[in-house]
Amino acid sequence: MLVCVCNGIREKEFRDAIREGAESPCSAYARFGRRPKCGQCISFAKTIISDERTACPA
Ligand code: FES
Repeated sequence: MLVCVCNGIREKEFRDAIREGAESPCSAYARFGRRPKCGQCISFAKTIISDERTACPA
């Protein structure tokens, strides 16, 4: 599943970026050399960040 259609950022790679320390959608996108364009994905991206922060470490 894509988190950000404009940048073609997949959910898995986005989650990996959050686990590696990105603290916001913008900082996660920056790890791929991207930045938000239309902004439609920001709410979903924040939901994933929240989900990652409440998940138990594997
Ligand atoms: S869908 Fe992410 S900026 Fe457009």
